[in-house]
Amino acid sequence: VDGVPPSLSAKVVGSFAYLTIRDRLPTILTKVIDTIHRNKNKFFEEYGKEGIEAEKQTIALLSKLRNELQTDKPVLELTDGLQDREPWNQYLQRHQRPQGDQESVSWFKSPWLYVECYMYRRIQEALWLNPPMSDFDVFNEGKTQSFFESQQAVMALCTYLEGVNKNMEELSKNQLLEHFNKLLKVSLWGNKCDLSISAGQDNSQKNSPIESLTSLQPFILVDDSNMVWSTLISAQRQGQSAKATAGRVDIVLDNAGFELVTDLVFAEFLVNSGLAREVHFHGKSFPWFVSDVTANDFQWTIRQTMAANHKWMSKSGYQWQSYVKEGVWAYHDHPFWTQPHEFCDMAADAPDLYATLQGADLVLFKGDLNYRKLTGDREWDHTVGFDTALQGFGPAPLCSLRTLKANVQVGLQTGQGEKLASQDPDWMTSGKYAVIQSYSPKSK
Ligand code: F6P
Ligand code: MG
Repeated sequence: VDGVPPSLSAKVVGSFAYLTIRDRLPTILTKVIDTIHRNKNKFFEEYGKEGIEAEKQTIALLSKLRNELQTDKPVLELTDGLQDREPWNQYLQRHQRPQGDQESVSWFKSPWLYVECYMYRRIQEALWLNPPMSDFDVFNEGKTQSFFESQQAVMALCTYLEGVNKNMEELSKNQLLEHFNKLLKVSLWGNKCDLSISAGQDNSQKNSPIESLTSLQPFILVDDSNMVWSTLISAQRQGQSAKATAGRVDIVLDNAGFELVTDLVFAEFLVNSGLAREVHFHGKSFPWFVSDVTANDFQWTIRQTMAANHKWMSKSGYQWQSYVKEGVWAYHDHPFWTQPHEFCDMAADAPDLYATLQGADLVLFKGDLNYRKLTGDREWDHTVGFDTALQGFGPAPLCSLRTLKANVQVGLQTGQGEKLASQDPDWMTSGKYAVIQSYSPKSK
């Protein structure tokens, strides 16, 4: 398409995409293989010899995958019988068809977004081809560990929330706004804690999330939090009781562990304060980018929070559980979230999901991968507007809450990117900087 810059790709030697494919992805695959191997006894206990055989076969497929990646082999079609494989294979057919000198889709030559997503889908294929392994979440250990390692931070956050809840009735609008800003930013910075950037190493939250906000503020490069607030306020119908008429907020989740807790705390605040009537969460239908939330992680996190030996933490857990039961909160997954598409393709490729999001008054997109998909993971100039980079995507007013972990950033002021690059060459990939970047379609 005219005017759209090229996709980020590992073909740029030395780029973050290149380093990810050369170093980080093989490390992640090696950890997956180790995890499966360490759980050998469990598969034997559950499935006997068949379990051991499945374990061996899965490891063989994953080793082969690692080898294909490291030697830059053409990307292969998926062979499992699952429905969601079609879009992947169609992409390959489209790009691989002999058209003159067009080369195959391969790990180091093709768009980073496609091949990185493809790796996670291939891990799943290896498991699905060996049925005793089908439901095994190879990233579960890391996710649960990161939840437990951030316990102190979670307790501090739930204690803060209790203070807000207790005084909710007496809060002035300004005080409410202040709490809103804090909890929104805690959810933003929660995105530092993902296990893909650290290739599976511990990356949990250790400090009090509320106390660190002031020192983190200068690292927020774009801060549209006032737009998020005004979108919520204008969704409340005038003249009636706020609670019954506030809008619906959808949160497209990113990582389990501390980040998910910050999202749930923010969602609890939105409902308790009457800023939102309902919250819909969107997660992944299979394990993805190491730490992304699945239905199982979502339920597990609520149960663990309920069971915590801390008054305010468990109180929040019970509150979340009852919001789910009453339908005030809903969890959804959709195959589109675990496909490699840019979001501008959603209306055509997943019209049902697009229509679902159109029902929201505000959609929050958590994290780096969602930002890459919002902007098509392209080499945009930093001063290009967010609306341009979205390329027509806009089911509802939306906002990205993202710490920067990939070489794409739009909507900056003239010179801002250059200045950052001169001070801190890794500004786009270290997770140290963040954006709260919003967009409202004209019609809403
Ligand atoms: O592995 C690379 C990557 O896509 C980075 O862009 C980012 O570090 C990570 O995976 C995903 O981050 P997030 O969990 O914030 O989407
Ligand atoms: Mg993630």
